[in-house]
Amino acid sequence: MILRRMGTGGTRPRASAWSSLRPLLGDRRSSIVGLALSSVLSGITEAATLALVAQVAATLVDGAKRVHVDVGPLHMNEAIGTLLALALALSVVRLILQVPISLLPARIAAQVQARLRENLFDAFTRASWAVKSRDHEGHLQDLVTNQVTQAASGALQATALLVALLTFLVMVISALALNVAVALIVLAAAIALFALLRPLNALGGRVARALSQAQMNYAGEVGEAIRVAEETDVFGVAAVQRSQIDRLVARTRDLFSRTQLIAGLGPNVYQSLVYLILVAGLAAVYETGAGQFGSLGAVVLLLVRAGGYGRQFQSSYLVVRQTLPFVERVQDAERRYLASSPFAGAVPLTRVETLAFKDVSFAYLPDRPVLSKVSFKVAGGEAIGIVGPSGAGKSTLVQILLRLRAPDSGRYLVNGDPAEQFAREDWQRRVACVPQEPRLLHASVADNIRFLRDLDDAAVQRAARLAGIHEDVMGWSDGYDTIVGPRADAVSGGQQQRICLARALAAEPEILVLDEPTSALDPHSERLIQESLAALKGELTLFVVAHRMSTLDMCERVLVLVDGRLEAFDTVDRLRLDSSYYRSASALADGVSVAKS
Ligand SMILES: Nc1ncnc2c1ncn2[C@@H]1O[C@H](COP(=O)(O)OP(=O)(O)O)[C@@H](O)[C@H]1O
Ligand SMILES: [Mg+2]
Repeated sequence: MILRRMGTGGTRPRASAWSSLRPLLGDRRSSIVGLALSSVLSGITEAATLALVAQVAATLVDGAKRVHVDVGPLHMNEAIGTLLALALALSVVRLILQVPISLLPARIAAQVQARLRENLFDAFTRASWAVKSRDHEGHLQDLVTNQVTQAASGALQATALLVALLTFLVMVISALALNVAVALIVLAAAIALFALLRPLNALGGRVARALSQAQMNYAGEVGEAIRVAEETDVFGVAAVQRSQIDRLVARTRDLFSRTQLIAGLGPNVYQSLVYLILVAGLAAVYETGAGQFGSLGAVVLLLVRAGGYGRQFQSSYLVVRQTLPFVERVQDAERRYLASSPFAGAVPLTRVETLAFKDVSFAYLPDRPVLSKVSFKVAGGEAIGIVGPSGAGKSTLVQILLRLRAPDSGRYLVNGDPAEQFAREDWQRRVACVPQEPRLLHASVADNIRFLRDLDDAAVQRAARLAGIHEDVMGWSDGYDTIVGPRADAVSGGQQQRICLARALAAEPEILVLDEPTSALDPHSERLIQESLAALKGELTLFVVAHRMSTLDMCERVLVLVDGRLEAFDTVDRLRLDSSYYRSASALADGVSVAKS
């Protein structure tokens, strides 16, 4: 776990910020149109209210009873009361418009969050085993929690950006109608200002990208720390582990602090500069001597509000920039998962008659072959042992057998046809496996055996009996309702392994693959599992990666794999004569049992 870099499939800087956001908001078009309309209407009512208030105030200062307006498109001569009533009505309309303006962004962001989570997990479940197995500890958890939360806040800010932009425009257009000179100066300066602050926005994006990566590293290390908690205690290295985690915490702290600083600084600087511009605008009016007192007041009011919306725009824009790395990371992961999705096959598979490898080669790394031209053929119902030294490629061969991985070259044939062309669901219904490390759900024994499949209690119990775990389960106070799980003390390693065997048997597979099922078992569990396998012999096609030579006695034929090559494939009796690996391994095993006795 130490000093590991977490490659996360490459999040790269994108040319356009909008290209990343568009897919986020793309399928919520009606909500966005609704929000845009509400913002424009709200802006218009606000601008009109402000203009009316400024005019009425100016008239009151003059001591007149009627308001006389003659600016731009506005020509009015109304009683003050009428105008106040109009302003009141406009304020009420604006108030009502705040409902969609608050509701729609909340709904859009919540939908974005849910959609990202659904899509990402969906993509993960479709990804190839090769890609899933490469993912680091805590990677997906962090993606679907932290990174998606940040991405959803980006969506929220994108809607705020839209509202701010539209309202800003309405304010400026209204100001233009009232006084072209002032409004133009302020508008031009506001745009120049935004351009001036672009480097700050870009910096915000870069720091956020680093923060996103740092968070992934942190989550990965914490996940790993949880996994090796027992070893950490035993080896007394908790202090080292703490300092490593602390370093990662400090890194996210620093980056988080910088993103927040940038997020605050930009808008605040912007707001202050807007006032400078406003003063400059007024100075320009003074120079030209244009304008009527009432309308000038209205223009100033509108531009102050426009400055406020400009600040909001600047602020949202910064936050959107800062959340884009999170959006991109989530989208990259989704793309990476989907791109790896294995070919599903379409040909129905009704029965497995034969399984064959033809010159199958496989490598995890380009120049290091793990399997080299392995060929064999097995008939349905055979029991096949697989032996070989550690690292010989046995687990890899098993994963290809299970269609978890595809050969780099050569062919894997089922009933004489390419395995991958058969429908994956048909295939999955016919094969089962027991991995070397039992992995239980935190759930009842029954649910662990059922494992999300539609199996009744009778099927569950039948499988438990076959796997030699039924008696143990009946001895527990809650029977099949006993909660077991990764950290539950209730079950020993051997019992966990037998629950996993029951899980494999529950759906009555035609092919059962066990990867070193007895390598870490107590003698009692080992004997029970061997009895189960003996009972299953002939009922299904069995592949057993065997650690103990005694397991091989029940196998009709044994595959001997050495350095990724098939050294021999024959009966135990013939192997005793022909296979040097087999002879030396059994001599070693005999020696051990002699030494023990
Ligand atoms: N996911 C992986 N990525 C890269 N190399 C791997 C991976 N899994 C196994 N290997 C390597 O492939 C070789 C064969 O491994 P494996 O099939 O697990 O052997 P066995 O089960 O016989 O012990 C080993 O050298 C191992 O280090
Ligand atoms: Mg192995």
